[in-house]
Amino acid sequence: MSKSILILGACGQIGTELTFALREKFGGESVIASDIREGSEVLMESGPFEILDATDYDALEEVVAYYEINEVYLMAAMLSATAEKFPLRAWNLNMNSLFNVLNLGKEKKISKIFWPSSIAVFGPKTPKENTPQNTIMEPSTVYGISKQSGERWCDYYHHKFGVDVRSLRYPGLISWKTQPGGGTTDYAVEIYHKALSEGAYTSFLDKDSKLPMMFMDDAIRATLDIMESDTENIKVRSSYNLAAMSFTPEEITESIQKHIPEFKIAYEPDFRQAIADSWPSSIDDSKAQKDWGWQAEFDLEKTTEEMLKNLES
Ligand code: SER
Repeated sequence: MSKSILILGACGQIGTELTFALREKFGGESVIASDIREGSEVLMESGPFEILDATDYDALEEVVAYYEINEVYLMAAMLSATAEKFPLRAWNLNMNSLFNVLNLGKEKKISKIFWPSSIAVFGPKTPKENTPQNTIMEPSTVYGISKQSGERWCDYYHHKFGVDVRSLRYPGLISWKTQPGGGTTDYAVEIYHKALSEGAYTSFLDKDSKLPMMFMDDAIRATLDIMESDTENIKVRSSYNLAAMSFTPEEITESIQKHIPEFKIAYEPDFRQAIADSWPSSIDDSKAQKDWGWQAEFDLEKTTEEMLKNLES
């Protein structure tokens, strides 16, 4: 059977780059991008696109039937900072879209699912450094509660109904093609834009808030790798810890100053500080390394070089 892939939330920060990567790998026509709104011109021109609300089961089922979809990547979600403002909307979007996709799997209408989880599944009682795959979770944010519940449902649908769902706990993701929206780790993208446009940035997290982060190329490679791995290698059916680097706002500032010495930073923590404080500082991803050979390539210095180079041009 030839591969036919549907991406939900294709216009977002991860969805955009995932669409390009999957189209390059499997051909433009095999990858159907969808979102509730249109995306960038280059995305819209790169292959088929559908306006689609991931919470609308009937519409989803129709698109899946029309394109004979066999794999779905569910990238539509409300992120941590926005979710604190709209708890019920976040719960409805994050959970209903997941149930829709899991139910398509249960009914054998699709054969493989990717669903992203996050470091937000962890909470204030979780060990902060080198956070293990299995540990105390107890998330204290709306977003984290939806992601942890989602993980339990993925595991349940896999064991109860044989649904082949695979998942990664992404750290904060840094990218230049599309900006993130509504997350707590967004500062680590904004800072590069402001360094170049204004030579100064006011961080909404304090200077010593250390969080796990990853450059988008690594995140996309991890996603393609876990989806292409033999099913018997995927031993965790909730979600895998995934790591690349950890840094503070002060450390990212220093790495930018190596390229732009006059760059200035100020700190004005807001409500997002409490979200960041509840998350781990670093992640142990040895299980992903062992089960399907994961290894990150981008550290902070390499990320800074890539970000500044691409945003400048
Ligand atoms: N980066 C996301 C956020 O900050 C976490 O998954 O909300």
